[in-house]
Amino acid sequence: MEIRTVGVVGAGQMGSGIAHVFALAGFDVTIHDISLDALARAREMIGCNLDRQIARGKIAEADKDAAMARIATTTTLSELGPSDLIIEAATERETVKIAIFEDLQPHLRPETILTSNTSSISITRLASRTDRPERFMGLHFMNPVPVMQLVELIRGIATDEATYTTLLAVVERLGKTAAPAEDFPAFIVNRILMPMINEAVYTLYEGVGSVQSIDQSMKLGANHPMGPLELADFIGLDTCLAIMNVLHDGLADTKYRPCPLLTKYVEAGWLGRKTQRGFYDYRGEIPVPTR
Ligand SMILES: NC(=O)c1ccc[n+]([C@@H]2O[C@H](COP(=O)([O-])OP(=O)(O)OC[C@H]3O[C@@H](n4cnc5c(N)ncnc54)[C@H](O)[C@@H]3O)[C@@H](O)[C@H]2O)c1
Repeated sequence: MEIRTVGVVGAGQMGSGIAHVFALAGFDVTIHDISLDALARAREMIGCNLDRQIARGKIAEADKDAAMARIATTTTLSELGPSDLIIEAATERETVKIAIFEDLQPHLRPETILTSNTSSISITRLASRTDRPERFMGLHFMNPVPVMQLVELIRGIATDEATYTTLLAVVERLGKTAAPAEDFPAFIVNRILMPMINEAVYTLYEGVGSVQSIDQSMKLGANHPMGPLELADFIGLDTCLAIMNVLHDGLADTKYRPCPLLTKYVEAGWLGRKTQRGFYDYRGEIPVPTR
């Protein structure tokens, strides 16, 4: 099946990045969000990020205009009905995702492929709540989507081969690299990355290091481009906590218990860059550690 039109649910940092790369690759994209503000911010963010690509000589001005013209936004979920492919990129909460697929289903064509950009939730379980588990897959982009090369492709137990090969071709058309991952909690990248971030928060919680010394140690001592706490702020602390909870519940191993300090930041609404405060305070000229 050839994919031409794509519906993206959720206009947050991932939804807007996904819409950006699909529009640039020539797909027609409609983004849905329950928040008009989020849709306006997404358009603005896509425009800024395309400008950055022009400044770096990666694309031409005309590519930006063509990409922006291919993106529509809506607060009405049913307008995604005619899409060939749906990519759900809403908040990392299973009940939210299940409700979206349930609401969407009556408006879809039978051949439409459903995917979720979930970082950790079982693809098999999400698929089982839809009318098409054989045409359901995990399509997991990395943040920031226009920059990161990898896309994890996660088959649920019922996913058919045609769906897998169609999505493999889509990833190739985006110029990205697909990594197949089995459907177990948090798949590959986050199964490895999140426990490291959680351990960095424990290191802070136990007073082994300050925010600055932890990030500096991993940048200069392990050659990571970003420190783990800086990266956690970038991903979103609510998303990090949600992934740790999925690992903890799904694998039933205490080594995945979320650090109480991570929970405290999320309870405070200090979710990282998106709320201007997390392990760093982003409200001034330069980020200032909050501990
Ligand atoms: N942040 C990351 O680094 C990252 C990386 C890979 C995958 N993901 C996954 O992508 C998804 C989105 O993450 P994000 O970082 O973009 O989150 P975000 O908080 O930036 O955005 C989530 C968006 O979903 C919208 N939303 C919530 N409920 C909705 C509904 N019922 N219908 C439509 N829209 C709804 C919100 O208004 C918001 O705009 C999550 O599943 C997350 O696990 C995140």
